[in-house]
Amino acid sequence: MELLDTLLSRKSIRSYTGESIPAADLQKILEVGNAAPVGKGRFSTLHLTVVENQELLNAFEECTAKDLNQPSLHPFYGAPTLIVVSTTLDSQNSNNVPFSNAAIIAYNLNIAATALGFGSCLIWGVFRAVNKNASLVKRLELPEGFTPCCGIIVGKTEEHYAKREINKNRIGINRIQ
Ligand SMILES: Cc1cc2nc3c(=O)[nH]c(=O)nc-3n(C[C@H](O)[C@H](O)[C@H](O)COP(=O)(O)O)c2cc1C
Repeated sequence: MELLDTLLSRKSIRSYTGESIPAADLQKILEVGNAAPVGKGRFSTLHLTVVENQELLNAFEECTAKDLNQPSLHPFYGAPTLIVVSTTLDSQNSNNVPFSNAAIIAYNLNIAATALGFGSCLIWGVFRAVNKNASLVKRLELPEGFTPCCGIIVGKTEEHYAKREINKNRIGINRIQ
């Protein structure tokens, strides 16, 4: 897809066949993640984790469902792969750059998955729940000092992408001339 077509047809996919994407496509998505801009170029403050272990995906889902008191919740919607973006944080958590870096990387991953025709969705809520559970975070095998922030799910879907009619005023804009 052309970049502008990809941006205009991207949508959150919440229905998956359960089939994984080919390894070469996953590598391409990760390459686009690595191409994301990062504040002051501090790339070593970010980390990506590809989770394809169904048992761990289930554990993350169960933790989130429990945290939100919604027992039937499946926040990965049957997607076979989760890519987690983790960052280091300063002790006061007062710096607005680390979470922003993670968000921009997640969006690059999301756009790359869309451009390749796979289903994908940005995932934040799961990490609010999982970050309260140190033993689950440990299962991500992150380097010392990293906190999972957000991520994407990706997988094959039967949904299709088409350019969407976007309400051009849904995000307020003011202009000063
Ligand atoms: C910061 C952020 C966090 C999000 N977290 C989740 C999430 O945890 N689960 C989910 O299903 N969608 C999540 N989304 C997707 C939004 O719900 C979605 O982008 C929005 O409803 C607009 O729909 P669209 O992506 O189809 O255009 C998130 C999106 C953003 C930007």
